[in-house]
Amino acid sequence: MNNSLTEKIEQAATSPRNMGEMDSADAIGTVGSTNCGDMLRLWIKFKDEKDGRRVIDRATFQSFGCQTAIAVASVATELIRGKTAEEALSLSGEELSAPLGALPPMKIHCAQLVEQALQSALTPTTSLSHDNKPSCSSPASTLSDQLHPQTGKFKINILPS
Ligand code: FES
Repeated sequence: MNNSLTEKIEQAATSPRNMGEMDSADAIGTVGSTNCGDMLRLWIKFKDEKDGRRVIDRATFQSFGCQTAIAVASVATELIRGKTAEEALSLSGEELSAPLGALPPMKIHCAQLVEQALQSALTPTTSLSHDNKPSCSSPASTLSDQLHPQTGKFKINILPS
């Protein structure tokens, strides 16, 4: 990685924005990568604009992941503010990580982890209750137990390796 990219990632990862749980989230998405075992969860809160559009007011994240995933989640949670769900869903991992610069090939999946968490949160699927745990054959499933699902909206999407 070039020095500028490394510095931006280190800076975003050491002082991440929007890290932490959100009590009153409207949507939550959690993903785990079978590639590296890293996991990431996004919380999203919407607000209604005067023009009738429903846009993302705030997004927060937690990650059991590498520095790059944390850095991308940090900039992505800023980037999606003010966007509709459709607009946020249209963003690729490359676009979500763009404020950091172009990622090297071995780190592209870190940005895809954030992209997939966003899709997990914003794409309607069957909700799972606390008693109805998702089947998970990933080695990362033990990490998911540490995420302590707080709402019935909890779901985990396992990314293909
Ligand atoms: Fe797996 Fe970065 S190394 S998310």
